[in-house]
Amino acid sequence: MQVAIQDSETPLAAKPEMELIAKYGGPVPRYTSYPTALQFHAGVGAATVEGWLGSLRDAGEASVYLHMAYCKSLCLYCGCNMKVTNKPETITAYVDVLIDEMRRTAALLPERLKVGAIHLGGGTPSYVPMKDLRRVFAVLNELFDVTDSAEISMEIDPRQLAEGMPALLGELGFNRASLGIQDTNDVVQQVIRRVQPQEMNVRAVSQLRTAGVQDINVDLLYGLPMQTRATMRQTVADMMELKPSRIALFGYAHVPWMKKHQAVLENHELPDAEARLAIFNTAVEELTKAGYVAVGIDHFCLPTDPMAIAAKDGELKRNFMGYTTDAAPVLLGFGASAISQYRQGYAQNITAPAEYLDAMTRKGLPIARGVAVSEGDVARRGVIEQLLCGMRAEGRDLDDLLVQRERLEAMIGDGLAEWQGERLCVTEKGRPFARAVAACFDAYLGKGASTMGRHSKGV
Ligand SMILES: C[S@@+](CC[C@H](N)C(=O)[O-])C[C@H]1O[C@@H](n2cnc3c(N)ncnc32)[C@H](O)[C@@H]1O
Ligand code: SF4
Repeated sequence: MQVAIQDSETPLAAKPEMELIAKYGGPVPRYTSYPTALQFHAGVGAATVEGWLGSLRDAGEASVYLHMAYCKSLCLYCGCNMKVTNKPETITAYVDVLIDEMRRTAALLPERLKVGAIHLGGGTPSYVPMKDLRRVFAVLNELFDVTDSAEISMEIDPRQLAEGMPALLGELGFNRASLGIQDTNDVVQQVIRRVQPQEMNVRAVSQLRTAGVQDINVDLLYGLPMQTRATMRQTVADMMELKPSRIALFGYAHVPWMKKHQAVLENHELPDAEARLAIFNTAVEELTKAGYVAVGIDHFCLPTDPMAIAAKDGELKRNFMGYTTDAAPVLLGFGASAISQYRQGYAQNITAPAEYLDAMTRKGLPIARGVAVSEGDVARRGVIEQLLCGMRAEGRDLDDLLVQRERLEAMIGDGLAEWQGERLCVTEKGRPFARAVAACFDAYLGKGASTMGRHSKGV
């Protein structure tokens, strides 16, 4: 059940915006890759990836992603690939296998790889026992040349930050932490089953900074049940107490056909598209007043943050982690569901942790699916990335790469995009629709497995 949110304080989105949402706010991919994960197929498996790894010479600095699949409890909105466990030994056993996968992969490389970025995501990496984190880092340093300037980051659930963990992160060289906060309103928190008092956030940030993990990101969500413009205003005000250098403001992706537990949230008031946009716009207003600059479609940064600087210089990138300053062409992903990126294409590990663990009892890499990229894919990926990162794209072949010409012209007619000579620009009004503009260059949309119905809403 989707109902309009009750918020008597101020009107919701203006009528013209509602018409635009109806026209262009439908499901579109998030474009953390192109082709998107829906084009991945079983034809790209371990044998293909072994070949890609074997050709990895002069790769420059690669990035590493480690998927830590476990959480202490389930948040009802969660769209991540995770399993709940209360047993530390389950996580320790998973880490054993993750280390084995790293060793198998490194053994296939023709030369020692330099690593310039390491990111631990999940699930909840801050829930991994400290002794196991130490083991992971010992093996990373044994197998790869981790550069002195590497960005080392972790997704942290402030509810699962054991005493001693901040100090360990400082010791292991972590320099950035992303805190999952979502919303600070207690009614919203109870409905989404994630109770996390603001004092807990304040304490976590203070402990991390004291331990030397200086760069703090936070994740917020808009579009959750019971959220209003007033609750969002308070959530942003609470963030100002933490002064993170980056804030990711993700639109809640409601995909109960994939994540059945999300259906419970339909018992409450889920903001509809216009209410979502109104709440999003409120956050934008408050964050702008507080001195943050909008980066891409869903990030806000202090102007001194490297991501804001990269965006200004046209050097922002997009990969499976979302927006990033990391320009590495090679990303090695380890763990259940982890995606790797090579020059030749993408490959994803088996998604379900139990099946991933089972596959690793046999020889070879635990690859489930992937896709090889063609020259056309690379060109379209460039355009989509430019649009989502810098709100503009240019290049002589832009016109040839356009797939949905009429739709783009309609969006231009509605003031969401404009041509400035050979450059296509998303207007300020069009920023919330940037994914829909980018989708005009997607040659796969609506084809094969990539049916629109499988994506979450575009706005
Ligand atoms: C792996 S979690 C972060 C680490 C830790 N598990 C936590 O929740 O604090 C990654 C982020 O994904 C976002 N997320 C989770 N489910 C989502 C959904 N259904 N739609 C949009 N974003 C979602 C949340 O903002 C969350 O902080
Ligand atoms: S949002 Fe984070 S803590 Fe909550 S279930 Fe998902 S991955 Fe786990």
